[in-house]
Amino acid sequence: MQKKIAVLPGDGIGPEVIRETRKVIDAIARKFGHKFEYEAADVGAVAIDKTGDPLPPSTLEICKSSDALLFGAIGDPRYDNDPDARVRPEQGLLKLRKELGLFANVRPILAFDAIIHLSPLRESRIKGSDFVIYRELTGGIYFGEKKEDVGDGVASDLMIYHRDEIRRIATLAFEAAQKRRGKVTLVDKANVLASSRLWRKVVQEIASDFPDVTLDFLFVDNAAMQIILRPSQFDVILTSNMFGDIISDEASVISGSLGLSPSASVGEKYAMFEPIHGSYPQAKGRDIANPMATILSAAMMLEHWNLMAEAQKIKEAINMALENGVVTEDLNPENPKKCSEVGTYLSEFILKD
Ligand code: IPM
Ligand code: MG
Repeated sequence: MQKKIAVLPGDGIGPEVIRETRKVIDAIARKFGHKFEYEAADVGAVAIDKTGDPLPPSTLEICKSSDALLFGAIGDPRYDNDPDARVRPEQGLLKLRKELGLFANVRPILAFDAIIHLSPLRESRIKGSDFVIYRELTGGIYFGEKKEDVGDGVASDLMIYHRDEIRRIATLAFEAAQKRRGKVTLVDKANVLASSRLWRKVVQEIASDFPDVTLDFLFVDNAAMQIILRPSQFDVILTSNMFGDIISDEASVISGSLGLSPSASVGEKYAMFEPIHGSYPQAKGRDIANPMATILSAAMMLEHWNLMAEAQKIKEAINMALENGVVTEDLNPENPKKCSEVGTYLSEFILKD
């Protein structure tokens, strides 16, 4: 198979985790006889530094002419600590998602047996957890009309949803549940928010087209608690943009580290694969970040192309690294391996025999 991948390393640890991911993808290409070409492009704070624009038109061009996008991380403390900054790195990612129509963000949450004892959560609670979050990604409060504080002491963000935006992500969530354990949980705040009540209405209509899938509902505050208390009850969680952002970071604790949680952002035409973690600026350039979330995101990219054996090989390599303690300091602070050592171990595992 021949594919062109747009590579967007972004900020902070992005370039390092992307570099290790490329090692792994190259190993897969060699092992299985594929040809993957990369085209790199700037996004985020690095793009602002060079061009003043967090998503330069040339980056968008490259993305649109590729078969998939691989994304590192975005964010820079120079902007986080300046609420008056008019241009922000995150605008690059949000615009990219919107321009490419990446409305569905798929975030699988797995408890890895080899490191289950490292989780801050009790092993008996999280053992066997296996669920996936379907987060709406191009609507809601992230994209509703904003009013900034212009010295009048008033600011607002509109949480707006249209029926069709709910319908398309809900359909994907139900289809996923059909292939899994047949359960969708809608996470919302329908006791308070009108937009959540629209979600309930539309999702219930869709549920009638999927008689083999059961649907239940949780308010987001309760869901936040249930994810920690009894994560094994979940199969597919369906939720809006901001609730999905929040509960996916929380759920990543089940995997043992935010550094292990991948995601796929898909639309009708394009697909982007990105770790759920941020740019971890304190670790930038120190070769200590965990590259596994990005590498597992690349495995999701291969699955997206139906390269199932290839994706499986990556997961096998990750499991082997976890079992053998070839992990970065987030998973083993006493005896950590470097980001680059993890990437090398994984690619050598893939290439051997
Ligand atoms: C994520 C991130 C982004 C988001 C930020 C960086 C804009 O937290 O992908 O979860 O909020 O969507
Ligand atoms: Mg987030």
